Amino acid sequence: MTGAAFIIVLFLLAFGFAPESVAAGTDELVYGYECQSGKCRKVELTETNFVKAISLPVCRLFCGSSIGTLWPKPTGAVQLEPLMRQVDMSNIEVQIPSGLSRKEKKLWKATEQRWMDLLEAKIPNRKILKEGGYQLTVSIKTTDNGGAPYRLTLDTDESYALSVGSEVAGEILANITAGNFFGARHALETLNQLIVYDDIRREVQVTANASVSDAPVYKWRGLLLDTSRNYYSVKSIKRTLDGMAMVKLNTFHWHITDSHSFPLEVSKRPELSKLGAYTPSKVYTHADVEDIVEYGRERGIRVMPEFDSPAHVGEGWQHKNMTACFNAQPWMQYCVEPPCGQLDPTVDDMYNVLEDIFSDMFKLHNPDVFHMGGDEVSVSCWNSSETIRNWMLKRGWGLTEADFMRLWGHYQEEALKRVDRVANTTNTPVIMWTSKLTNAPYIDDYLDPSRYIIQIWTEGHDKVIQEILKRGYRIIVSNYDALYFDCGGAGWVTGGNNWCSPYIGWQKVYQNSLTKIAGDYEHHVLGAEAAIWSEQIDEYTLDNRFWPRASALAERLWSNPTEGWRQAESRMLLHRERLVENGIGAEALQPEWCLQNENECPVDAYAH
Ligand SMILES: *[C@@H]1O[C@H](CO)[C@@H](O)[C@H](O)[C@H]1NC(C)=O
Ligand SMILES: *[C@@H]1O[C@H](CO)[C@@H](O)[C@H](O)[C@H]1NC(C)=O
Ligand SMILES: *[C@@H]1O[C@H](CO)[C@@H](O)[C@H](O)[C@H]1NC(C)=O
Ligand SMILES: *[C@@H]1O[C@H](CO)[C@@H](O)[C@H](O)[C@H]1NC(C)=O
Ligand SMILES: *[C@@H]1O[C@H](CO)[C@@H](O)[C@H](O)[C@H]1NC(C)=O
Repeated sequence: MTGAAFIIVLFLLAFGFAPESVAAGTDELVYGYECQSGKCRKVELTETNFVKAISLPVCRLFCGSSIGTLWPKPTGAVQLEPLMRQVDMSNIEVQIPSGLSRKEKKLWKATEQRWMDLLEAKIPNRKILKEGGYQLTVSIKTTDNGGAPYRLTLDTDESYALSVGSEVAGEILANITAGNFFGARHALETLNQLIVYDDIRREVQVTANASVSDAPVYKWRGLLLDTSRNYYSVKSIKRTLDGMAMVKLNTFHWHITDSHSFPLEVSKRPELSKLGAYTPSKVYTHADVEDIVEYGRERGIRVMPEFDSPAHVGEGWQHKNMTACFNAQPWMQYCVEPPCGQLDPTVDDMYNVLEDIFSDMFKLHNPDVFHMGGDEVSVSCWNSSETIRNWMLKRGWGLTEADFMRLWGHYQEEALKRVDRVANTTNTPVIMWTSKLTNAPYIDDYLDPSRYIIQIWTEGHDKVIQEILKRGYRIIVSNYDALYFDCGGAGWVTGGNNWCSPYIGWQKVYQNSLTKIAGDYEHHVLGAEAAIWSEQIDEYTLDNRFWPRASALAERLWSNPTEGWRQAESRMLLHRERLVENGIGAEALQPEWCLQNENECPVDAYAH
């Protein structure tokens, strides 16, 4: 279809009203859009062209793209016919599955409410919204009725199918079918992206003849937030979960404690947060954690806790005599950044404290996978403690690196027993970071591949990744050269720029192919996470660090696209606007002029 023919068809199908009714909007708006040769062209609205001019979000839905403005792009069949219908905002009904328990119903209702809120957020000014339109009915059917899995696990089927059509005059019906709540919830996000505000006609419109079938490529699609180096309010964490829900990211990895602060209330050990939080108000109470976990569930997100140890502990553990090298100086000799601190594996009572921490985490999160940290253990830290050295020597061990790895192995075994005790099973999958312990020969001695998942944080081309994969471990990829979003900016323990500078652009995130990283072992890759380590970030600069780069990751993980970032760019620009519309302070990628003048900015546009 040529561009011109397309416009006319679109207009005739979509807008069955007299041109005069459009004119009411033109006294304020100066520009509209036309689809020309597969690009949305900005046109000045005049007496003669306003009848066929359309708004930018509507134009982008059908012009030059078979998947419209959907982000992340679906992996199954997508059919979008150029037919828009005005939605009567006072006549929308969501039909949730029947036969639900009270608790399940509450979850569905919260999800429905979120979806309605997203629709409302599209309307810039309720006062000038045009009345009337089609009734919109969303019918949701899941096949898991009875014993519904309302807990996301590695086995959860997140696929869904969505079809939108009209069989009854005056009514648009959107059918959603999915295996369970999680798939159905994703479908609602997709449907939301097929509904736009038309600023020329001042109405909300739905794509009225569409079908999408969709499923993610990777199971584990996450963001990590470190709430120890700097504290984040519950509100800012929820905002992050909102953004994640929009792009179908499903794992919020909560690196809750570290050596800098201990902001988690532990019921049996109140001194941990009392001594360890920056201020009494910078503590996540049990009510806060429950709130965040439930908020995540409503958005299809597991909120997974990490207790990082045996290194990366310190504040909060004062007066216990269970740590080594806490705040030792000069810190460079004992750890990678101040303040230093590691648990002392030789203190038996320390494992009881661990059990109390794990116990609260399991109660609050009910995690299907638990993260035990395990990065950056310093041998010289442990070796600086006379009691540790004596404990080792008394057992006939030496003081070589291998002996300290054995000490770490001992710690890990004892700590895992406590995890198993609070989980009341011995098969909760456990994640650990890549470290010396995940290198040969130690990995074979201390970490069971049927039990441990390894989270990779070395560079994407590091040979160690193949070593881990060929042993049968499942991995989660967080290669710092693409997925550490705190890279770039001033140093804080040095002059110049921070250790992993420069800043990583969204294009690099988008191109970070797990297929390439995993080689022959792709079936062992669960997915990936982008990380924000918070030495130099807090809730005031959070949004623009995560967004829209986390969306680039989301499409990499959901769709594993074969095309590169250039093909995604104009969709990304529009998606960034969608994030902003929903209250997320996503970074601007380009002048707004490039959004309005599609493909006029890239330098290599001329090469094609
Ligand atoms: C929605 O489902 C109903 C009931 O199965 C069916 O009659 C109708 O055709 C479907 N509509 C669309 C647009 O898929
Ligand atoms: C929806 O699109 C299909 C083609 O994909 C077409 O056959 C059908 O008539 C359309 N329905 C409406 C109501 O326009
Ligand atoms: C700390 O523990 C060590 C043995 O683990 C013991 O020798 C020492 O007296 C303890 N110090 C305090 C202050 O309790
Ligand atoms: C630990 O310290 C002792 C001296 O107290 C030293 O002999 C040994 O080499 C050190 N071990 C390591 C692995 O550095
Ligand atoms: C622990 O698991 C066993 C068997 O799986 C079960 O019988 C027992 O009730 C559980 N205990 C608790 C406290 O949940």
